[in-house]
Amino acid sequence: MTIIGARPQIIKAAALNRAIRTKFSDRLTEVLVHTGQHYDHGMSDVFFEEMGIPQPNHQLGIGSGTHGKQTGKMLEEIERVLELEKPDALIIYGDTNSTLAGALAASKIHIPVIHIEAGLRSFNKRMPEEVNRITADHASTLLFSPTKSGLRNLEKEGFLLLNDAKKKGKANMDNPYVFHCGDLMYDNTLFYSTKADEHESFFSKHGIDKENFILSTIHRPQNTDDIQVLSGILTALNEISLADSIKIVLPLHPRTANMIAKSNDAAIRELSKNPLFKIIEPVGFLEMILLEKHAKLVMTDSGGVQKEAFFMKKPCVILRPETEWTEIVESGCAVLVGSHPTKIREGYAYFKQNQDLKFPSIFGDGAAAEFICESIIEHLN
Ligand code: UD1
Ligand code: UDP
Repeated sequence: MTIIGARPQIIKAAALNRAIRTKFSDRLTEVLVHTGQHYDHGMSDVFFEEMGIPQPNHQLGIGSGTHGKQTGKMLEEIERVLELEKPDALIIYGDTNSTLAGALAASKIHIPVIHIEAGLRSFNKRMPEEVNRITADHASTLLFSPTKSGLRNLEKEGFLLLNDAKKKGKANMDNPYVFHCGDLMYDNTLFYSTKADEHESFFSKHGIDKENFILSTIHRPQNTDDIQVLSGILTALNEISLADSIKIVLPLHPRTANMIAKSNDAAIRELSKNPLFKIIEPVGFLEMILLEKHAKLVMTDSGGVQKEAFFMKKPCVILRPETEWTEIVESGCAVLVGSHPTKIREGYAYFKQNQDLKFPSIFGDGAAAEFICESIIEHLN
């Protein structure tokens, strides 16, 4: 059984589901459970439509809420479907509240948990995701880390290396197996890169010069919940746009859109005077890949988008003080700037001056999904 709920999990699940359907259907059967954490068409259905993901077997319809309320409702409902379907294992992705609820519900009733995107750490427990991912890792039986730093983080927390764990016996919650497997999102980017070109009309539809724009996304609570912080980020982007006559394309997450809609911040109102500042609805995955492919630069607080910028060999200004994807920063292809307007402008200026970037191979070979399927078959039988 697989738990999905938030946009990036639906996208990641597409890669594994594709591998199961095309290569492992004789050995693996997947039951999809959507918690309903994300529910707008542009945050959920669009990905099922364009990535050919089967409709969920169970739609829990939980929706939005405070952390406790949302996670609590998920726990109850996931436990119900686990009891009903009695799966051999539960797959969870990433670090959202849907991930946490899945990890807790399954581990308490002794259903092995498979955590994909294990080991990532921001070392900032004020992020809800950090609490979710640590808890999920420590309730899991098979842990798949996309990066070497993820593997090292797990080792530091007491997880044994795979060979040592194998010597102790079969995989279980008290003897978890940890794998380094590459990134499912890289699988997806390779798979959809050419198909994304079919969406080129997106540029003319939105009046975007495909040679001259910056792609930005903003959705982290620490960047959106305080309107002064959000206003500072948007103002910095606007100044960059005006100074260099470059378009900012900002597909806006509903969390951020809601904040903007209810604010009467003067600086935010100013944005509408700049025709190069383009706020649009969230886009589908193919359009997003297309935007990442053509953008001059990416400025984002998203985990997924900073990686995809790297996959597309684009410099990235990370609108956060830290990242779980440390290899990208170490490679010199991204800089961490947080949310201070001056730092954001400096990050942009840095990449105007430093354009000779090298993008080493960090995220595997585009076959993480196959590796994960084979490992599940081998170690959970
Ligand atoms: C969640 C994840 C975050 C992930 C992000 C991906 C947690 C704690 N956070 O953050 O790790 O990076 O998803 O996008 O799980 N909303 C809508 N329509 C929707 C979904 C949300 O309007 O379809 C609005 C609601 O007002 C909601 C708010 O967005 O309260 C936040 O949604 P929520 O799922 O709680 O958190 P995200 O910020 O999306
Ligand atoms: N994404 C998308 N449309 C958008 C914004 C993002 O398809 O308008 C995709 C993006 O390509 C990436 C994923 O959503 O694959 C990242 O999700 P998000 O930024 O919401 O969450 P995070 O990765 O930070 O958890």
